[in-house]
Amino acid sequence: MPSAENSTEKTLAELGVRTPEAVSALFAGLRERANKEQRWIDQSDKFEQFRVKWVGRKSGILTQVTENWLKPSDPELKRIVGQVLNEFRTHLQRLVDQAQQDLDVRAGQAADARERIDLSLPGVIRPTGSHHLIRQVFQEIEDIFFSIGFSVVEGPEIETPYYNFEALNIPEFHPVRDDMDTFYLELPPSSDKKTAPTPLLLRTHTSPMQIRTMEKHKPPVRVIVPGKVYRRDNPDATHSFAFHQIEGLAVDTDITFCDFTGTIEYFVKQFFGPSVKTRFRPSYFPFTEPSVEFDVSCPFCGGTGAAAGGGTCSKCKGAAWIELFGAGMVDPAVYGFVNYDAKKVSGFAFGIGIDRLAMLKYGIDDIQVFFQNDVRFLRQFP
Ligand code: FA5
Repeated sequence: MPSAENSTEKTLAELGVRTPEAVSALFAGLRERANKEQRWIDQSDKFEQFRVKWVGRKSGILTQVTENWLKPSDPELKRIVGQVLNEFRTHLQRLVDQAQQDLDVRAGQAADARERIDLSLPGVIRPTGSHHLIRQVFQEIEDIFFSIGFSVVEGPEIETPYYNFEALNIPEFHPVRDDMDTFYLELPPSSDKKTAPTPLLLRTHTSPMQIRTMEKHKPPVRVIVPGKVYRRDNPDATHSFAFHQIEGLAVDTDITFCDFTGTIEYFVKQFFGPSVKTRFRPSYFPFTEPSVEFDVSCPFCGGTGAAAGGGTCSKCKGAAWIELFGAGMVDPAVYGFVNYDAKKVSGFAFGIGIDRLAMLKYGIDDIQVFFQNDVRFLRQFP
């Protein structure tokens, strides 16, 4: 039997192989060598060595077998050599494919091992935030008004003087404008440079949305408008230059002062609890007639004006009442700006300062804490 090592460099005649059985035995030896070497492939460079050694086109063993065993063999052996060579070629190709596949699997497993997530490691704790107290109070008030048929609308914080003042019956030079000085926006000149740009300001109250809502919708109208408003007010414990309001507006053909007081009282008792007492005081707003200020009995001293340990209540300063917000029946002059027939419709409106309402309900004595974002404060209202 010829040695398997360099047998492929010789012809069959040189190897003394003359029978079909000897051909088969020769190929069986090669097959065994190939199988053994394939089992040792564990890296891609070894795979490449194996591939070149066995099936490389130039001088691979398969090529040598073709050149040295098949081509020069006697015609009577050639047929059998060709047949066994074909089987051997298929076998080698299978070994190469299998080795490639094994390497791919191994590479995939290694990548998985590198990227594996260790589920037993402790996770990253991300504290969940909560709504700001002002947002919570908005929600509370919206829920109360939803329950009696109001819907929520929102409007622009940048307004024109027309919506913020004129259409609310506050003409230029009206003294009420003194209480509502605000921030005006410096606008670039218009493109034709002939017409002056429409002046714009940061709204001083949510009341412009009364006009925008009535312009868009015919009566009946029942809306509340939560939002941010701005005034040129110096900051102190109860004033901020940016604060929050909720506007309310109800207009229909037969809304009376009783509907107005009933709605307001319902809201206040839902918000502060049934034991608070309420009262209206005459007031003045150019867009309501009659106008009122709405007070509640002080929820801190139970409407007595006295502190629990003696002396006067520090919240209502002994007055027993706390002023809550302004309101009134919509002034007929306003209907003229929105093409409503003042003879047919009537309604009421109110504007609640949310920051002061929240201070009152939650015993907060400085409005500035709402804007400072101090987590020690925010965490008290999860
Ligand atoms: C108005 O803004 C009217 N638009 C309210 C209104 C609406 C009346 C509809 C009638 C009908 P007033 O200027 O009073 O009203 O402001 C309303 C509330 O905003 C006040 O009661 C107060 O709670 C709050 N407020 C006013 N100025 C400030 C400020 N600088 N900082 C914080 N809250 C303020």
